[in-house]
Amino acid sequence: MQLVLRGPTGHGMPGAGCTTCHGPANPPGSYGARVPPGVSNGWHMPPPDMPMVFVGVAPGALCEQIKDPARNGGKDMAALRVHLDDPLVLWGWTPGFGRAPISTPRAEFITAWETWASTGAPCPEG
Ligand code: HEC
Repeated sequence: MQLVLRGPTGHGMPGAGCTTCHGPANPPGSYGARVPPGVSNGWHMPPPDMPMVFVGVAPGALCEQIKDPARNGGKDMAALRVHLDDPLVLWGWTPGFGRAPISTPRAEFITAWETWASTGAPCPEG
């Protein structure tokens, strides 16, 4: 079994970088399911010193984490909004054959984001 690791920058390990298998776009549906998806600006993870682990984090803590430049890659609210247009983020709504897109439609998500940001990006308790 091939072990995929984050590596020193989040782009994989030498000789097993993410882009060894993940190309600049999703392969055509004719390739079937279980193929490595792709994205134009380079498939990668966050770097190890900024791992951005969201799983199991309570809503209030997740909200604070997302807004904290020390833990979100140095982004203020304006930069976070730009990040939502990053091809790797957009991929979540167009993940390719055999994968379910993010369940909230993108337009609905962006509208909710804009409302949240314009009201001071409040976080829930807990
Ligand atoms: C040796 C080839 C290879 C390398 C290197 C590789 N991947 Fe993959 N990746 C795959 C394959 C094959 C799939 C499709 C697996 C499937 O659908 O069962 C995949 C799927 C994925 C998925 C989608 C999972 C899902 O639930 O749909 C993500 C996310 C991912 N890889 C991230 C990465 C990251 C980040 C790196 C670099 C740190 C990386 N991969 C390096 C082969 C690779």
